[in-house]
Amino acid sequence: MPQQSSAGAKRIAVIPGDGIGKEVIPEAVKVMKAVASARGCDLSLIEFDWGADRYLRDGTTLPPDAVDVFRSDFDAILLGALGDARVPDNRHGADILMGLRFKLDLYANVRPCTLLDSRLTPLRNRDEKDIQFTVIRENTEGSYVGMGGFFKKGTADEIATQEDVNTRKGVERILRFAYEYTRKHGRKRVCMSDKSNALAYGHDLWQRTFAAVKRDYPDIESSHMYVDNLLMQMVRDPSQFEVIVTCNMFGDIASDVGAQLAGGLGLAPSGNIHPGHVSMFEPVHGSAPQIAGKGVANPMGAVLAAAMMLSYLGLVEESRQMEKAVRAAISEGKTTADLGGSLGTREAGDWLARRAESA
Ligand code: NAD
Ligand code: IPM
Ligand code: MN
Repeated sequence: MPQQSSAGAKRIAVIPGDGIGKEVIPEAVKVMKAVASARGCDLSLIEFDWGADRYLRDGTTLPPDAVDVFRSDFDAILLGALGDARVPDNRHGADILMGLRFKLDLYANVRPCTLLDSRLTPLRNRDEKDIQFTVIRENTEGSYVGMGGFFKKGTADEIATQEDVNTRKGVERILRFAYEYTRKHGRKRVCMSDKSNALAYGHDLWQRTFAAVKRDYPDIESSHMYVDNLLMQMVRDPSQFEVIVTCNMFGDIASDVGAQLAGGLGLAPSGNIHPGHVSMFEPVHGSAPQIAGKGVANPMGAVLAAAMMLSYLGLVEESRQMEKAVRAAISEGKTTADLGGSLGTREAGDWLARRAESA
C-alpha cells in the first residue's frame, strides 16, 4: 500500500525509454534528488534501459519477470516515453507501455490540465481559475486491448477488425474512481463523456453504469456530454469542467487538447494508477522524434509527473516543492523554447533543481 505511508526508503523504477524520454527523465530525477536530499528523505532509484535501442540490440521489450518484480520490490515507476521510427510497428512500445498499464492493472489514467500561468493558454481572456480540470481516462479496456485481426491482408478484399471492449466491472471502477477523486480533491463536478449515440452497445453500458453509480454520489454534480461536444466545450469554456471521466481512446485525445489549453504537451503530467498498488507516472507527451537529441525538450511534464508520484507515495511536501519550482520557473521565464524561454533541457532542469531544494 505505497501511498499510505511516508516512512522508509521509496523504491522507484525509472524507465527513460526513447527520444526525449531519455532527455527529460534525467532532469526529473535530478529535481527529485535535489528535493529529497534537502528534506532528508530516502529515495532509491533504479534505472531500466528498456526502449528501442535495447529492443534493436537484443530483442528485449518487457522482460517476463518485470511485472512481478515491480509488484514485489518497487513503490512506483517513472516512465519517459516510447516510440522510435526504427520500430515502425511500435512492438516494443506496445509491450512496455501497454504491458505495464495492463499487466499491473493500472486502470485509472489521471491527467490534470492545470493552467499554471495565464500567459500560457492559447485561449483569449482565460486565466488560472478557468483551466483546472482533470481528465480521468479508463486505462485497461476499450479499443486498446489489442483484440482483432486481419483477413485477406494485403489484398483488395482486406478486412481489419479492432474490438472495443467494455466490461461492467471496468466501467464501474473507473467511474467510482472519478467520483472518489473528485471528493478527495474538494471538487464538485463530474462529467462523463462517451459516444453512446453511435456506439450502441459498448457505450450503452457506460450510460447504464453511470446512471447507477452517480446515485451513490449525491454530493457531486453529475453531467454527461458526447465526446465531440466535450472537445468543443473544452475549448469554448474550460471553466465548466472539474473532472472528466471517459474511455481509453477518448481520454487519450481529450488529454492532449487539455494539455494544450494549459500551456502545451511539454508541461502535462499523468499517473497510471491502481489505488494501493505500485503505480506508474509519466509525462503525457511522447518521444517527440523531431526534437529528440537537440536538448530543447521541456522537462516540466516529466518533473510534474515525478511530483505526482511523490505525492502518491505520501511525500506531499516534496511534491509541492517541485510544483512550486515549476511555477516559479514559468513566472520568471526560466523555460525552454516551447514556453517562450531560451533554456535548454538540462539548464531548465538545473534551474528547477536549485529552486526546488531551496524552496
Ligand atoms: P509527441 O507527444 O511525441 O509530440 C507531439 C508534439 O509535441 C511535437 O511537436 C513535439 O515536438 C511536441 N512536444 C512533445 N513533448 C514535448 C516537450 N517535452 N517539449 C517540447 N515539445 C514537446 O507525439 P507524436 O509526435 O504523436 O508521437 C511521437 C512518438 O511518441 C510516437 O512514436 C508515439 O507513438 C509516441 N508516443 C508515446 C507516448 C508514451 O510513451 N506515453 C505518448 C505519446 C506518443
Ligand atoms: C499516451 C500515448 C499512448 C496512448 C500511445 C503511445 C499508445 O498517446 O500515453 O497518451 O495512446 O495511450
Ligand atoms: Mn496520447
